[in-house]
Amino acid sequence: MENKVCLITGASRGIGVGIAECMSRAGWKRLALVARNGENLEKVAAACKELGAKEVLTLAKDLSDLEACVQAVQETAKHFGSMLFMFGCSGYSLVQLELNCRIGCPGQQCRQV
Ligand SMILES: NC(=O)c1ccc[n+]([C@@H]2O[C@H](COP(=O)([O-])OP(=O)(O)OC[C@H]3O[C@@H](n4cnc5c(N)ncnc54)[C@H](OP(=O)(O)O)[C@@H]3O)[C@@H](O)[C@H]2O)c1
Repeated sequence: MENKVCLITGASRGIGVGIAECMSRAGWKRLALVARNGENLEKVAAACKELGAKEVLTLAKDLSDLEACVQAVQETAKHFGSMLFMFGCSGYSLVQLELNCRIGCPGQQCRQV
């Protein structure tokens, strides 16, 4: 999992934090964490690094705004050079739509969790 990248929405509290920490424990080294509360995201990023993640990008975005979704995906792809997996835990997000439409990810390869 050294080079794989996972974007997790809703990563500032609740299930998203649990997933971010599990991914870090499981050996994922590169994570992008998205939610509105940037301060909480920084705390989660620090916890992920303690659990083994090497590089954690935090993106404070309101995912009810399509443009913010576009930015989250594009900034993650630009920062890491790729983005392979996504967990959507924010309850409301257009990020998956963005994945499907803007970077050419075939719909059947995007699975909701
Ligand atoms: N907990 C359960 O037992 C359970 C069971 C079934 C389904 N679910 C569903 O799973 C999802 C997550 O549950 P949870 O318990 O982890 O909820 P939660 O504790 O309320 O966390 C929601 C997360 O989504 C983020 N978020 C909310 N609105 C956002 C927005 N407009 N833009 C960006 N981020 C946003 C919040 O961060 P910010 O406030 O920092 O933006 C937070 O990180 C929800 O859809 C919930 O309905 C939960």
